Amino acid sequence: MQHIGQFLAERPHLRYIFTGGKGGVGKTVCAAVLALRFAEEGKRTLLASLNPVHSLTSVFGQDLSGGQIRPVAGVPNLYAVEVDASDVVARYRENIAQRVREFLRYADIPVDARPFVDIAVTNPAFEESAMFDKMVDIMLKEGQEFDRVVFDTAAVANAVRLIGLSKIYGLWLQRMIESRKEALSLRQQLAFRKEKVMEEIKKDAMLADLISMDERFKAVKKLLVDPEQTAFFFVTLPLTLPISVVRRFITMVEAYDIPVGGVLVNGVIRREEAERAAGDEYLQNKFREQAGYLRMIQEDLGPLVRAHLPLYKTEVVGLEMVRQAAADLFDPHQDWALALVS
Ligand SMILES: Nc1ncnc2c1ncn2[C@@H]1O[C@H](COP(=O)(O)OP(=O)(O)O)[C@@H](O)[C@H]1O
Ligand SMILES: [Mg+2]
Repeated sequence: MQHIGQFLAERPHLRYIFTGGKGGVGKTVCAAVLALRFAEEGKRTLLASLNPVHSLTSVFGQDLSGGQIRPVAGVPNLYAVEVDASDVVARYRENIAQRVREFLRYADIPVDARPFVDIAVTNPAFEESAMFDKMVDIMLKEGQEFDRVVFDTAAVANAVRLIGLSKIYGLWLQRMIESRKEALSLRQQLAFRKEKVMEEIKKDAMLADLISMDERFKAVKKLLVDPEQTAFFFVTLPLTLPISVVRRFITMVEAYDIPVGGVLVNGVIRREEAERAAGDEYLQNKFREQAGYLRMIQEDLGPLVRAHLPLYKTEVVGLEMVRQAAADLFDPHQDWALALVS
């Protein structure tokens, strides 16, 4: 296995780091650990939470809420933002509504836009799409001020799907742009002011909007598929379901050329821990079961495993514990965990 430290050392230009996996496996903890590590290496780092329910405040044991980028106390170079989902959703909703209204006007469809807007904004993936849009924003704008941006996001699957869609979407946008240009130039020709065509095209708000959407999408896609700049890390526990979620995600992102950083195995019970708790039947059973799952991980994902994180006695809360977890994750001696496989 190539250890996380080695992997990162080989990618000095890495900029966008994602953690994905099933709910509750430790994505937020791993994102915090990676971000802390980058900051401690002297890299200006932004940790951005795009979850509907945030946990950065709880992980760092300090108030990081409010939707603004805030410095993390006690860690120079580290900044965090818990993106306000309701705010993002409201703004995205208005944006979509505007697009629908403009489209209907442009297509000369004299109907009430409201039902169309309602359909567009009440689909079940709307919040995810809004958060994805915000992620694109952070990558292209705020993120440019940082050496590294670590995303703690529930929307990994959504990000991937949208990249898959972007080809069709790009074609659609191209068509829209062409037909808008045609319509404008036709109108200009009729008015016998050909020289004004380009000028008019440049002033057209809807066309400008389409072009900027297209450019934004292309720009972010370029970043997301660049293995020098982007890495997706998948977090799993030594349990069946989280392992299959990781397997599925990896197949999915590879199909879209998104670079996989590797797999982080969280919540591994240490042998000493199991021996110390000899009378704890629950822990003994867990410890025995875990060997089978660790073997499964080695067999299925072996070359992608980057590190193991032990199961702690308490939740990972507060800077001191994040520091401890960083020390464990970045400990190059991973033999303690690998020995558990046999
Ligand atoms: N190695 C660990 N040992 C003990 N508790 C952990 C460990 N990793 C995560 N936790 C705890 O498990 C819960 C879920 O972790 P979290 O990072 O929030 O998962 P996710 O973001 O994937 O939903 C949190 O309460 C966290 O503190
Ligand atoms: Mg989380």
